[in-house]
Amino acid sequence: MKYEIEYHDYDVVVVGAGGSGLRATVGAVENGYKTACISKVFPTRSHTVAAQGGISAALGNMGDDDWRWHMYDTVKGSDWLGDQDAIEYLCKNAPKAVLELENYGVPFSRTEDGKIYQRAFGGMTKNYGEGTAQRTCAAADRTGHAIIHTLYGQSLKHGVDYYIEYFALDLIMVNGECRGVVTWCLEDGKIHVFNAKSTVLATGGYGRVYFSATSAHTCTGDGNAMVLRAGLPLQDMEFVQFHPTGVYGVGCLITEGARGEGGYLVNSEGERFMERYAPSAKDLASRDVVSRSITKELIEGRGVGPNKDHVYLHLDHLEPKVLNERLPGISESAKVFAGVDVTKAPIPVIPTVHYNMGGIPTNFHGEVMTSVNGEEVPVPGLMAIGEAACVSVHGANRLGSNSLIDLVVFGKAAADRINDTVSKTDPNKEIDHSAVDKILDRFDKIRNSNGTTPTSQLRDKMQKVMQNHCAVFRDDEILSEGKKKIEEIWLESSDISVTDKSLVWNTDLLETLEYENLIAQAVVTMNSAHNRKESRGAHAREDYKERDDKNWMVHTLAWTNDKECNLDYRSVHEYTLSNEVKYIEPKARVY
Ligand code: FUM
Repeated sequence: MKYEIEYHDYDVVVVGAGGSGLRATVGAVENGYKTACISKVFPTRSHTVAAQGGISAALGNMGDDDWRWHMYDTVKGSDWLGDQDAIEYLCKNAPKAVLELENYGVPFSRTEDGKIYQRAFGGMTKNYGEGTAQRTCAAADRTGHAIIHTLYGQSLKHGVDYYIEYFALDLIMVNGECRGVVTWCLEDGKIHVFNAKSTVLATGGYGRVYFSATSAHTCTGDGNAMVLRAGLPLQDMEFVQFHPTGVYGVGCLITEGARGEGGYLVNSEGERFMERYAPSAKDLASRDVVSRSITKELIEGRGVGPNKDHVYLHLDHLEPKVLNERLPGISESAKVFAGVDVTKAPIPVIPTVHYNMGGIPTNFHGEVMTSVNGEEVPVPGLMAIGEAACVSVHGANRLGSNSLIDLVVFGKAAADRINDTVSKTDPNKEIDHSAVDKILDRFDKIRNSNGTTPTSQLRDKMQKVMQNHCAVFRDDEILSEGKKKIEEIWLESSDISVTDKSLVWNTDLLETLEYENLIAQAVVTMNSAHNRKESRGAHAREDYKERDDKNWMVHTLAWTNDKECNLDYRSVHEYTLSNEVKYIEPKARVY
């Protein structure tokens, strides 16, 4: 094995150039750190670009609001699995973060008097659950697009060192400490070794473990898988969010903002069925509730279409001005992907995988945490932010528009923490060449896989098992079978075939590396789901229908090696960060 290697020394290396990665990068550079940002796609093609409806913050532009109400909604939305210290940090810092984006140049939609426009989103209420809050700041229905382009522009102003179309292979771990990352440059085929005092994983979610997802094909959870291979745990991986309104048969997103602007769902009887399931919040109940309600309608035979396997989202009663100004993107998506003119006909929709609440455990500074003898301890040199991380502010279910705010609040928090803890003058610690060799051995082994099963075949099998066995409703039988099937597919990786052995833009090899990342997360997700014997947030068990706070108000931690998955649990943080708010006691959810 002989690879051409280039070595780089940085204070900070950020892996991923979506909203959180760019915000952390900008912060680190502003603070004077020598910073590299590594991305497998061009930054403005990162998945944040696809975010539609908006970014939450209690600005109060459309009526009274308070960050404490936002915190209450987020705790309740998380079904009491969220850590309340982190949720306080998120909601309190959200208004400042949105105003910072405005100053950076994000072209938000405006109210008549020139303020940032805010729309209603599911689960966002006033006065601790008393009425709907308009809290979601929007740039029409292309908010992620506006944010990512603005942050990228800011980063260029600061002269960030970008390494674009570089695939991160593995973390360089020395005695439990992260010293950087080994990458493969897709363009020239060289290996690049980055030595860093702080490595920040901002690698996004792993939605592509499922067959139908709103996530980009690049969402393969590469950072999560690197963390597993480093012998560290992932947290709460059983909590996978289904967005209620993916376009039927295609999976592309129709923003919750569509219901926020007045859209509503109907079944085959023309009934607005959400009035039955959530009499108060109706179509703006939280996503877990709406996705379960749609699924129940389908199971009970009230779906629409020849196979009765989807429902309709009506927007045709809305003013054309609202559709043009507030929802132009989804009006176009409905036309392109469903052949529907939203001014005249409803959009066929179905719950579709959208977000991973689980990920790399961190504290609210973005430091990666592991568990040693039941104690939470930080992993030196390693941070994680964005969808890759599990802070955990979303707990068992994320509220819509809390993702974009998570990206920028914790992207900045990570940069601030680096500023407080990382020296700019100390030399970098030596990297251990045997650790690099081990990473390259694995890369070489995968590149030279001479089995008989194409990667695409295994990926297809994995995605279908996840779709059928780890979906909106789960029970022991379906999860046990899913666990068995996914572990069989995992073993089949030993027979994988990589036909292209080249190093320059080898998509066969790239997709195989991504598949290896996905299958490890599939195993962890299935095992974590099988073991959680309760229903909470997005994890709805038919055989354990109730939330069980006595036994299960705990975070799942999951480790894998090549053969098995091991689980442990840690307590939810039942405390707040400051004395400005009290801990919000668990209570039954009323919709
Ligand atoms: O529906 C949406 O626009 C998605 C927003 C989100 O996931 O936060």
